[in-house]
Amino acid sequence: MTDLFSDSYAQAQDANDPLPTLRGEFHIPLHDGHEQAYFCGNSLGLQPKGARAMVEEVLDKWARDAVEGHFLEPAPWMPYHALVREPLARLVGAHPSEVVAMNSLTTNLHLMMVSFYRPTRERPAILMEAGAFPSDHHALESQVRFHGFDPETDLIELQPDEAEGTFSMQAIERAIAEHGHRLALVLWPGVQYRTGQAFDPATIARLAHAQGAVCGFDLAHAVGNIDLALHDSGADFAVWCHYKYLNSGPGAVAGCFVHERHARTDRPRFAGWWGHDQSTRFRMAPEFAPTPGADGWQLSNPPILGLAPLRASLEQFDRVGMHALRAKSQRLTGYLEALIRERLGDTLQIVTPREQHRRGAQLSLRVTGGRERGRALFDHLAGNGILGDWREPDVIRISPAPLYNTHADVLRFVREVESWRGSAA
Ligand SMILES: Cc1ncc(COP(=O)(O)O)c(C=O)c1O
Repeated sequence: MTDLFSDSYAQAQDANDPLPTLRGEFHIPLHDGHEQAYFCGNSLGLQPKGARAMVEEVLDKWARDAVEGHFLEPAPWMPYHALVREPLARLVGAHPSEVVAMNSLTTNLHLMMVSFYRPTRERPAILMEAGAFPSDHHALESQVRFHGFDPETDLIELQPDEAEGTFSMQAIERAIAEHGHRLALVLWPGVQYRTGQAFDPATIARLAHAQGAVCGFDLAHAVGNIDLALHDSGADFAVWCHYKYLNSGPGAVAGCFVHERHARTDRPRFAGWWGHDQSTRFRMAPEFAPTPGADGWQLSNPPILGLAPLRASLEQFDRVGMHALRAKSQRLTGYLEALIRERLGDTLQIVTPREQHRRGAQLSLRVTGGRERGRALFDHLAGNGILGDWREPDVIRISPAPLYNTHADVLRFVREVESWRGSAA
């Protein structure tokens, strides 16, 4: 029988993987002089070595060319955001005109809601998940209040129906049907941040549309993690960040998708000069004529220094291809799951769904014995160079990122939990 727990097995898996690791292209943080097993790419992805050159290119250009840097080759700043458009569109399965890199996630969520959450007395409500990332909750609640409605009745938070705190599709379907006639918007995650559960945007968008509601997604934990086909999903809009699986640095410029059918929408929007029709922007006229497509929601000229690392990251995703990366991710996370079930069943409970199509890279783990024991394990791991993250009240998230994590990293994690269990007994 294959011994999953042996070094030779893990090493062979790494050596023979159809997608060779890009680990050497990243800065791997050290712990006591040795590389960490870094499982926090779902929070802040590691730095691609190519990012520095991209940032330095901008700094050098600024030093050399000053204002003329907007127009001079290479990579003039005026159309700089367009440099990331095509790879970003390929990554999320969208048409190039449907995506734009701008602002931050929560800002983009508000901008999207200005246009796509248009509550009326008959249809005032938003359906979201209970336990959503707090910023989404704050944004949605404040939007409901901004329009003069009452979050008590008009912000509907669906409770998970499955034992581990996850959702069955039936529960989502029932909720959309039950509240459908009052729903202005359904806002759902692509991958839930605490449980790691993945959802199919196409199914949720279809259900929402059948009830006459708009449908948008927070893809913070989905982009660069699972395969996305945003155009075909029919979703009206989506927002995401680039500092997690997209490895573009702390607070990186975020992403936004607006479906092609809204390219020339006459819905209200909050406007700024960078969303104005590019061909006439510099006539400096007061009338606003939006650029068709997602670009039309831009407000300001983009932070070029902030966009630079995203170019380096997207080059990697483009080279590897999301499909191949997702397949590797499934192998790595599948290995983690198999080892936990085989060796650590008495210590770790896996919260994340078992089915591959219902999860991404991350496994969310609860430690048997409760929160204090969970914290103790988490601290033990961190003290030994194994970094996951902790999400209150009692979850350790471990996310093998297929660009730089290896089977050897996964084995190291499982061994360290075993050693802690032995010493804590
Ligand atoms: C699911 C989710 N939504 C929203 C946010 C907020 O992102 P930002 O601070 O970039 O607006 C985060 C941040 O981690 C997140 O994980």
